[in-house]
Amino acid sequence: MIYKKNKLNFDGFNIESMAKKFDTPIYCYSFRRIKENILDFKNAFKQIDPLICFAVKANSNLSILKEIKNFNLGADVVSMGELMKALKAGIKPNKIVFSGIGKTKKEIEFAIDKKILLINTESKNEILEIEKIAKRKKITVNIGIRLNPNTDAKTLKQISTGKKENKFGVDEKMFLQLVNFIKKSKNLNLKCLSVHIGSQILSHRPYQKMLNVVNRVIKKSKFNFEYIDLGGGMGIDYIHNKSKLNLKKYSQSIQKILDISSSKIIFEPGRFIIGNTAVLITKILYIKESTKKDFIILDAAMNDLIRPALYGAQHKIIAVNKTSQITNKVYEFVGPICESTDKFLTVKRFQKLNEKSFVVICDVGAYGISLASNYNIRPKPIEILIKNSKIQVIKKRQKLSELI
Ligand code: LLP
Repeated sequence: MIYKKNKLNFDGFNIESMAKKFDTPIYCYSFRRIKENILDFKNAFKQIDPLICFAVKANSNLSILKEIKNFNLGADVVSMGELMKALKAGIKPNKIVFSGIGKTKKEIEFAIDKKILLINTESKNEILEIEKIAKRKKITVNIGIRLNPNTDAKTLKQISTGKKENKFGVDEKMFLQLVNFIKKSKNLNLKCLSVHIGSQILSHRPYQKMLNVVNRVIKKSKFNFEYIDLGGGMGIDYIHNKSKLNLKKYSQSIQKILDISSSKIIFEPGRFIIGNTAVLITKILYIKESTKKDFIILDAAMNDLIRPALYGAQHKIIAVNKTSQITNKVYEFVGPICESTDKFLTVKRFQKLNEKSFVVICDVGAYGISLASNYNIRPKPIEILIKNSKIQVIKKRQKLSELI
């Protein structure tokens, strides 16, 4: 994003003009960045040649999924809805993995009927349910078992998944028992070990620890896994200080620690592919002055972007019209929702802002619109995509009439 004559531009488009044309709030995506992220990801792991399954939960806009499919990515889905959307976007079933700890019978049957690559399971009882369905259908189903490696991902505790106190995966002992159980089953075909230790991981070290556990467990199991699914979690630079995960180091660790000569690696990145590709354009409704700080009341709220309220996550905010006047007041950017957690960011020494002008909230492509809600009966925002110097509306703003 750059200023041209003090007006902020996103991929060659003047943000203020877009705000006036489409009204605010707006989720605005850049195809160029999606492409760059995918190519960076592929390039960093080219020696490994993985199957890259985009984590649909990060962003399930159909047009976005179609763009991602065009780069030959598969999908990691966690519900029947996500699976249906991935298929509708044209992603081939043999590139889809179904993760999650609680799949319903209906979801399992649907996934089996669609002949997806893998169902990753996370408990003995879920495996028994899949076996029962497979037996009834007189078929063999390809499954993976998710290992809980008891590894600290060193990220926000709300988005850590790989410690033994988390609900995800099975511990080493159970994993080995399940391998032996599945080996004897006529209706289950064990194909994959899967693991995912958390999200927004910025150092390769937690991954190294996880890889050592994976390696030990594979050796102990004496089983040749056709796939090793290492999940996602690759972190991005929300604070704009070049702190994103070094994918090349992660790639080198994989090659050093795991024997991948007869196994295909699967990744399930969500945030890394889509996180930094979008901004949320929002208007300053009012500036409410108080003794300690000024509240910058935006027309976007926690229903549009819940990450700050839910995890204390930080997203940078940038003014759309640049001025050289810097204020010494503390600015607190908040939404209009009736909750004290409906705030985005508190900053000191920001440029002076004016009512009715616009700001952008950065890096909202992942877990932005996918976690949006209609709380306070607020319609979900419009989504637009900039591609090849053109603006496409990829989701219309919800109408109040749809909600009332
Ligand atoms: N695979 C599995 C099994 C997962 O549970 C997740 C994310 C991913 C892949 C993708 O992770 P990513 O590459 O996007 O980090 N709403 C939170 C993040 C929750 C992540 C849940 N699982 C946030 O806004 O930070």
